[in-house]
Amino acid sequence: MSNIHNKVRKVLKAACLEAGKIISANYGKDKNIRSKGANDWVTTQDIKVEKVIINIVKKVFPNSNFIGEETGTSGNNQAMTWVIDPIDGTNNYIHDYPFFCTSIGVMIKGKITYGAIFDSNRNEFFYAQKDAGAFLNGKKINVSKIKNLSDSLLCTGFITSKKSFARKNLANFRRLIFKARSIRRDGSAALDLAYVACGRLDGFWELGLNSWDTSAGVLLVREAGGRVVNSSGKNFNILKNKSIISANKGLLKKLIAEISSDEV
Ligand code: IPD
Ligand code: CA
Ligand code: CA
Repeated sequence: MSNIHNKVRKVLKAACLEAGKIISANYGKDKNIRSKGANDWVTTQDIKVEKVIINIVKKVFPNSNFIGEETGTSGNNQAMTWVIDPIDGTNNYIHDYPFFCTSIGVMIKGKITYGAIFDSNRNEFFYAQKDAGAFLNGKKINVSKIKNLSDSLLCTGFITSKKSFARKNLANFRRLIFKARSIRRDGSAALDLAYVACGRLDGFWELGLNSWDTSAGVLLVREAGGRVVNSSGKNFNILKNKSIISANKGLLKKLIAEISSDEV
């Protein structure tokens, strides 16, 4: 069993490092940008990185399924699904604002079992394995112990390609801005979740996310001792839910009480 764990971890690390090389090589340079829809942008690097990751995975696990933000769903094996966001925080990347990452979650028989998030700007590799913990560059990480909103540093996001979610979230933001110590809007949901996992943030919420934004980060937070729920307060389901609330166990209920979403 530990053999498969090692194999997956090695593939995740290799894929993330390769992704980081492509991303870093084009940081600070003019990028080829294309619109995917209303206020939804993609660079040449997003597409290239996703293809490179899939090729690396296929060499070791040829019978895999893929859910990728840029290439869609592919593969033929229901047992192992790799959920890929090649660049989470594309708008930051386009603007050379150094807060973006590569996120890969691995589902085994429908359950999120491994997750990796790589921040190539800081050379930080976040990794989690179900029931085995969460790690940052090999060191175990834990969520924070902050229990009160008034002491908390929170983070949220506004998905600008889906205005109804963003509008709805403004009301949540308005409610929380004077209750929390402060709120960030960093622009990479996956990295925001990794920051909750390692205690840099006390909580994160957003409405309107996709499975590739959340797959790895959800496991990281849970394995670091935190909780991740949908806006009804039930366990967050990566494939079904779009609205996410994550925090340490002491803070979670207080956060849920302030956040509403029409969608769970
Ligand atoms: C986006 C980022 C952003 C969040 C959006 C996501 P992308 O992902 O995670 O922080 O607010 O909801 O779509 O498009 O940069 O991969
Ligand atoms: Ca994303
Ligand atoms: Ca992306």
